[in-house]
Amino acid sequence: MKRVSLAALFAMIVFSYFAIALPPAVISQKSSPQAVANGKRIFNRSCAGCHDTLGTSAKSGPALKNYYRHQLRPVDERVRSIIQQGKGKMPAFSNLSKSETDDLVAYLKTL
Ligand code: HEC
Repeated sequence: MKRVSLAALFAMIVFSYFAIALPPAVISQKSSPQAVANGKRIFNRSCAGCHDTLGTSAKSGPALKNYYRHQLRPVDERVRSIIQQGKGKMPAFSNLSKSETDDLVAYLKTL
């Protein structure tokens, strides 16, 4: 009887260690759902006119479906600067804040 409860106690300690230690590590790698949702909102407002995300229609800008899944994965820093400074025929979106730009990048990663 005593041995069982010791094992249970041990299991609880191990479990709570992982419950406490793991989530921050997971969160730091994945963008929060709020960031993605906000990025999507900004995208629909400011970007969707020129960029298709479904792979269904041709628009004036390059399609961004699977954008982050290409073999040559885009570098976040470069994508941020394209958004803030523009590129070729794409206008600059210098009015977007840093966190709005981060949210857009988080959204682009889900496409
Ligand atoms: C007026 C049309 C237009 C709007 C609005 C627009 N883009 Fe673009 N975008 C373009 C064009 C055209 C290019 C290609 C530029 C080039 O390579 O010369 C481009 C390129 C890009 C690229 C780089 C694609 C690559 O080749 O790697 C990204 C990322 C991007 N746009 C994201 C966005 C985001 C995010 C928004 C909204 C904040 C946005 N765009 C709004 C037209 C637009």
